[in-house]
Amino acid sequence: MMRQGMPFFHYRDGTLCAEEVSLAGLADSLGTPFYCYSSAALEAAYSSFAAALVGLPATIYYAVKANSNQAVIATLARQGAGADVVSEGEMRRALAAGVVPEKIVFAGVGKSKAELTAGLEAGILQFNVESLSELQALSQVAASMGRRAPVALRINPDVDALTHAHITTGRADNKFGIDLALAREIAGRQREFPGVAFEGLAVHIGSQLTDIGPYRAAFRKVIALYRELQAQGLALKRLDLGGGLAITYRDEAPVDLQAYAAMVREETEGLDAELAFEPGRLLVGNAGVLVSRILYVKDARQRRFLIVDAAMNDLIRPMLYEAWHDILPLQQPGPDAAHGLVDVVGPVCESTDIFARQRSLPAMGEGDLLAICSTGAYSAVMSSNYNSRPLVPEVLVRGDRHAVVRPRMEYEALIAQDRLPDWLASGATGREGMKAARRRGAAE
Ligand code: LLP
Repeated sequence: MMRQGMPFFHYRDGTLCAEEVSLAGLADSLGTPFYCYSSAALEAAYSSFAAALVGLPATIYYAVKANSNQAVIATLARQGAGADVVSEGEMRRALAAGVVPEKIVFAGVGKSKAELTAGLEAGILQFNVESLSELQALSQVAASMGRRAPVALRINPDVDALTHAHITTGRADNKFGIDLALAREIAGRQREFPGVAFEGLAVHIGSQLTDIGPYRAAFRKVIALYRELQAQGLALKRLDLGGGLAITYRDEAPVDLQAYAAMVREETEGLDAELAFEPGRLLVGNAGVLVSRILYVKDARQRRFLIVDAAMNDLIRPMLYEAWHDILPLQQPGPDAAHGLVDVVGPVCESTDIFARQRSLPAMGEGDLLAICSTGAYSAVMSSNYNSRPLVPEVLVRGDRHAVVRPRMEYEALIAQDRLPDWLASGATGREGMKAARRRGAAE
C-alpha cells in the first residue's frame, strides 16, 4: 500500500497502477489529462460502509453528485446502492445506469416543477423537501396528476458540522432544510397538502465531516422530532441521515465507520424507521486519480513551477476550497530521491489555477506524468469547458481491464455547442463584417 486511503493505487515495477493497470500505459493510449477510477476501490468503500451498518434497517443511497458517471453509479448499484439525486439530470443518469426508481431519493433545495413532475412520473421513492413553498408546489403538481408524493422533510437542526465553511449545510444560516418549529407547524397542517404523503424526515449537516459529535447532536434533534411527530399521528416510516463522511486527503483521520454505526444504533434504539444514508465522497473520493503530464518546468526567481496539462477547469477543488490533493509521480521515485519545493499549476489564464503551492515533490521534468490523488469525488463532475478546454476522459479499471467510460470531448463537439444568430451566420465576420457594415452605413 502506498498511500493511506488509496490501497488500490500502488507502484508496481516502478510505475503507478490502478489495480493492475499502468496509468502511464493509459496515458500513452489516451493522452492526458484523464481521470481513472478503480472498481475495486468503489466496491471496497461500499462494502465497508455496508458492513458497518449490518443489523440496522438501512439502505445506502449513493449521492450521485459526487461522481455521476454512469459506470460509477452502475458499479455501486450492483453492490446494492440506490441513488440520492439533486436534479433531473442526475435522476436520468441514475435510471440509465440501472438504479430502480424505488431506490431513488430526490434531494436539493430548489427542485423545479418540471423536475418534481419528472420524479413523480418516474415513481421515485422519496422527495426530500426543503421549504414550505417547495412543499406546496410538490403537493399541487402531484394532486394535478392524481398522485401523492412521498415526502421527507429535510430538517435544518442548526448544528455546526465543524468542516469547511463552504461545505457546511446544517446551520441556521445555511440555505438548507426546514427548522424544527416550521416542521412541527407543517405537520399540524398536513391537510393543506393533499398531494403529499409525509413519510419521513431527512438531515444532512455538511460534507467531509471527521467528527462524530456533530452527527450525534444533529441526529438526536431530528430523531426527537421524528418520535414527536409519529406520536402525533404522522405516518412516518423513513429517516434519512444524509452523508458527509470524510475521507483521507492528506492526514485526516476519517470517522470510524464502526463507531458511527454504533452511534446510529444508540440514537435510533427502538425507533420505528427504515434508515437511509446518502454518502458520496466516502464511496468514490479515494477511488480516483487525475493523471496529467508536465508540459513545462519554469524556474522563476522565487519559485519553480511545474506547468501541467490539467487545469482548474478539470479539477477545481484546490482553488475553490483550498483543498489538499496529494500528488504522486507516475514513475516511482527511488528511496533517496531528492525532493524540492514546487508549485504545480495549470495552463488556464487565472492566477488561482494552482493545484499545489510550495509542495515538496521528488524531482520531475518536462514530459513526466503525475497523478493528482483522491479525485474520485467532486472532481470530474465539477469540471467545465472554461478556456474552451474539452472535458477530459474518464476510465474505469477492473483488475487488469479498463474501459473508457467517458471519451475525451472532441473539439468539433465543443465548437458545435454554439449557434450563430442569423444576422451573423451568413458570410462575413471580423474585419470583413466591419467593412460590410460600413458599406451599409454609407449606402443608407
Ligand atoms: N446528501 C446531501 C443532501 C448533500 O447535500 C450531500 C453533499 C451529500 C448527501 C453527500 O455528501 P458527501 O457524503 O459526499 O459528503 N463539492 C464539495 C462537496 C459538496 C457537498 C454537497 N452536498 C467538495 O468538493 O468538497
